[in-house]
Amino acid sequence: MFDFDKIINREYTASVKYDLRQQYFGKAGVLPMWVADMDFETPEFIRNAVIERARHPIYGYSIRTDAYYQSIVDWLDRRWHWKTEKEWILYSPGIVPAINFAVQAFTEPGDGVIVQPPVYFPFFNAIKNNYRKQVLNPLIRKDGRYYFDFDGLEEKAKEARLLLLSSPHNPVGRCWQKEDLEQLAGICIRNDVLILSDEIHGDLILPGFKHTPTASISEEIAEHTITCIAPSKTFNLAGLATSSVIISNKELRESFANALERIHITNGNIFGTVASMAGYHHGDVWLDELMQYIRDNFEFLKESLEKFETLDVAPLEATYLAWIDFRKTGLKDKEIKDKLIHEAGLGLSHGPLFGTGGEGFQRMNLAAPLSVIEEAVERLGKVF
Ligand SMILES: Cc1ncc(COP(=O)(O)O)c(C=O)c1O
Repeated sequence: MFDFDKIINREYTASVKYDLRQQYFGKAGVLPMWVADMDFETPEFIRNAVIERARHPIYGYSIRTDAYYQSIVDWLDRRWHWKTEKEWILYSPGIVPAINFAVQAFTEPGDGVIVQPPVYFPFFNAIKNNYRKQVLNPLIRKDGRYYFDFDGLEEKAKEARLLLLSSPHNPVGRCWQKEDLEQLAGICIRNDVLILSDEIHGDLILPGFKHTPTASISEEIAEHTITCIAPSKTFNLAGLATSSVIISNKELRESFANALERIHITNGNIFGTVASMAGYHHGDVWLDELMQYIRDNFEFLKESLEKFETLDVAPLEATYLAWIDFRKTGLKDKEIKDKLIHEAGLGLSHGPLFGTGGEGFQRMNLAAPLSVIEEAVERLGKVF
């Protein structure tokens, strides 16, 4: 049993979530439930591996060893039943940089890139900042659940070269099923659109659901897919800047590797390498317990909101991010935001940031001790 109830003070640790509250919300005391990292401690087997390496007094240029790549291959086989090869795996300090490198490597300025909002907002920036054309294919919301718009995609794919996929989907919490992904990939392939499958949340699957890596569905799909994975969300290691891009198609892999080498993204972070290996070697039981805890936090939130009658939450299948619908309150987005910050003292992620379909919604981070979720729900109850 791991202790997910423990409260750990993160203030003044140079934490984005805690130490940027004044700057971001205009109020330093809000209960921070925005940035997607966890308030749980990184498991001891990872901390010990980092401490062990830190004891060696030299932190010079380092390599990623064969054992490092093997730990990723083994994890993906064990957890996702996806057979990969070490040679397919490239390093990136983060997934957002990887998305930008992919946009640069596989498209030209002015090319169309598809996004399916509401979605993790750096997707939009990767398109805009690289002078590509944003092609929106919003998700369809039906009875509170979200679906791909395949008819829309048939049309949009004609004017695009790349699709940015969030699988599982941040912020709506869908764990896309094999059939969904297969149909989506079929449309992309027929229209010569590459798929960037951002699977950073692929380990964070609630009990009863199963993550399907897009590239694992068929060889043909793998040939058109660039997959992004990381131990950062899984084991709370975002500060260690270590993630992977997996590309089985040799030609695409070489293009991507060239984009990295051009700007010398090769060294990496010795502590990230060590932590990643420790997580992938020893993290199974901890991760399973974590996801049961997240499921319980979500159930508590959902049952509480049902009593309020003004707030609804989308079903959570994956991620630790709850997508809360405030539209029944009849309030405008700015009013919701102001009430959350100044009356409830809560720092959530503002729905409209996630693009079309985000209006009237807020995203709440559930990766915190239950007592924190209880406090947040009580405050929501008083104000809404
Ligand atoms: C879908 C998605 N992709 C990427 C990231 C962040 O990637 P990184 O911190 O590795 O750049 C997040 C973080 O919330 C995310 O939700």
